Amino acid sequence: MHKIFAKPLFLGKKVLFLSQCHSTNEELLSLARKSNEPEGLVVYTDHQKKGRGQRGNAWLDEPGKNILMSVLLRPGFLIPSKQYLLNLIAGLAALDVLREVINSQTISLKWPNDIYIDEKKVGGILIESAFKGTILEYAVLGIGININQGGFNLLNATSVFLETGIHLDRLDVMDDFLHYLEKWFLKLKNGKEELILEAYHNNLLWKDELHSFIVDGREQKGMISGIDQNGKLKLEIDFEVRLFNIKEIEFIR
Ligand code: BTN
Repeated sequence: MHKIFAKPLFLGKKVLFLSQCHSTNEELLSLARKSNEPEGLVVYTDHQKKGRGQRGNAWLDEPGKNILMSVLLRPGFLIPSKQYLLNLIAGLAALDVLREVINSQTISLKWPNDIYIDEKKVGGILIESAFKGTILEYAVLGIGININQGGFNLLNATSVFLETGIHLDRLDVMDDFLHYLEKWFLKLKNGKEELILEAYHNNLLWKDELHSFIVDGREQKGMISGIDQNGKLKLEIDFEVRLFNIKEIEFIR
């Protein structure tokens, strides 16, 4: 066990630090499966050897530089079709944290929940859930934020350090993240879905701008108008609004 986080009220009060592991999501999922762990249990690490990203991608890190953390949530109040709202609140909490250190104009969320500074990705979220029938028993909310890493092999990746020249204390940033996540989670619990959607739309990358996407196997121009009530992306192509899930579209430029 490791230190508890001070700012949040119920997240991060039980914490497990691993100097390295395959994946904090994997570790927390296995703990949650085995025993009745409390909501808010956090697992974080200095290095993941098999970090998991969206769409089955790997999530890579330089040891000791970034935030690699998973949080156990028990959002039994959400019906399965509303589970996507957890992605939104995690993204919004990450923006709250980053805005404390970076000019707010440049930080946004790329649908569904990639965290961007200008046109580069600084963080990502992966939520893995377990259901009992149609009840969401628990969700493991995994977040990776590139904090102090000095370089990347990927062209469109960045870190807070590369953008600001500032080294941050990762524990402080995690403390802040949990505090903001808790704030958004309580809004969700209290039925403030509209407010969450409004905040999300206000921070959505490329919203109301014309960009290129791969759709139906070819590059097409379109304009993002937002997301629908199930979290699908609404994209206007040739005056028609179409809905997409994550596997059906690729962002180009
Ligand atoms: C993405 O592809 O954008 C999602 C990346 C999610 C990475 C985080 S790091 C902590 C947690 N453990 C994992 O294996 N993945 C998530």
